[in-house]
Amino acid sequence: MRMVDLILAKRAGNEHSNQEIKFLVDGIMNGAVPDYQLSAWLMAVCWRGLSDNETAWLTDGMCNSGDVLDLSAVADLIGDKHSTGGVGDKTTLVFVPLLAAAGIPMAKLSGRGLGHTGGTIDKLESIPGFRTNLGKDEFVKQVKDVSMAIAGQTAELAPADGKIYALRDVTGTVESIPLIAASVMSKKLAAGANLIILDVKAGRGAFMDTVDKAKNLATTMVAVGKALGRPVTAVVTDMEQPLGNAVGHTLEVIEAIETLKGRGPKDLEELCLSLGSMALVTAGKAKDEKEARVRLSKLISDGVALEYFQKLVKAQGGDPSVIDNYEIMPQAKHQFELMAEPNGTKWVEHLDGRKIAETLKLMGAGRVKKGDSIDLSVGVVLKGKVGSEIKGGDSLATVYADSEEQFKSVKDKLLSAFTFNANRVDQSPLVKASVS
Ligand code: URA
Repeated sequence: MRMVDLILAKRAGNEHSNQEIKFLVDGIMNGAVPDYQLSAWLMAVCWRGLSDNETAWLTDGMCNSGDVLDLSAVADLIGDKHSTGGVGDKTTLVFVPLLAAAGIPMAKLSGRGLGHTGGTIDKLESIPGFRTNLGKDEFVKQVKDVSMAIAGQTAELAPADGKIYALRDVTGTVESIPLIAASVMSKKLAAGANLIILDVKAGRGAFMDTVDKAKNLATTMVAVGKALGRPVTAVVTDMEQPLGNAVGHTLEVIEAIETLKGRGPKDLEELCLSLGSMALVTAGKAKDEKEARVRLSKLISDGVALEYFQKLVKAQGGDPSVIDNYEIMPQAKHQFELMAEPNGTKWVEHLDGRKIAETLKLMGAGRVKKGDSIDLSVGVVLKGKVGSEIKGGDSLATVYADSEEQFKSVKDKLLSAFTFNANRVDQSPLVKASVS
């Protein structure tokens, strides 16, 4: 078998056999398939797609490219949630301690930034000392000891996804339903959880720009889960605008902590409560979503979820004082206000998260090539979201930048992310559909 033949076959739209997919994954792992051939194959998949069988085989191969955790000795039920990527999506930072506080141990494998979206692992590294490269035994022990762990891709768990993910990020091969499905599901299956909630983002800030495409991705992941014996629930949620107000690593960690303190933006809190109540009901820990919400809200208002976040930080070597002192995280040198035009009152009709994310990439917050280091301090805090009333001369956002030149160089692009309407604009619902 030769890799070039697989590339040609996929370019022609042919279906691979299970053997061929195994050859590909083995080759990725033992170095026989170089990055340039894998990139070419990934691009062919972007154009030609993968069948359901190919997607399940690829997922299985990626999952078994490393260790597969058995967490059954830790608890009967272990939770996990995964987002398909969006802008300002810091849900995991709130969700994991919240659910652990509610009695569901959480074993979470997360990624770094991908394409225009930010990654949980990069965000967590804003906290001094926070280690995301937990080994397998350490990961399991931590779930046992403190009921939660968030680790990055290790050499041990779904390592084939780690390699493919890093390449997709820099080769324009992210937006493919089967590749996203295999990437997400291989990690979920390898990490050993059995209560899996998938948050599939839909909108211009997501990889799936319409609800229909997002439903398609959700259905593919649910089908892969079923085919490989691990049922999952998928929820399609809005990514027509960034989630919350903060975009940028340090700023998003601050916003997540504020949410755990009960002072976060409504949409972020709402998403965590929606996904969390679904998990609690599925786990049989609440009789319905209403009861689950009340419990989760109380864990926030009583400060218990925040205590769990602090436990998580401490367990992973981070400085737990971060919850009271945000300044220990990387700080941008300057802050600038992005001002609306001086005249008139209008309403924000659309807020293009992708443009905001691309702007941040230009400011150094995202990778341009594999392994680049990134600036964790820069970012944007939005003053208003879709539906907000903006008066002439109001600030639309605070921009955290390295220098005035940097701010000036991105100002017009940032302004172009806002679309206004002279009339009032309604918010659209956050949760669009669920698939199981
Ligand atoms: N999240 C993942 O883990 N993989 C993808 O491909 C996209 C989002």
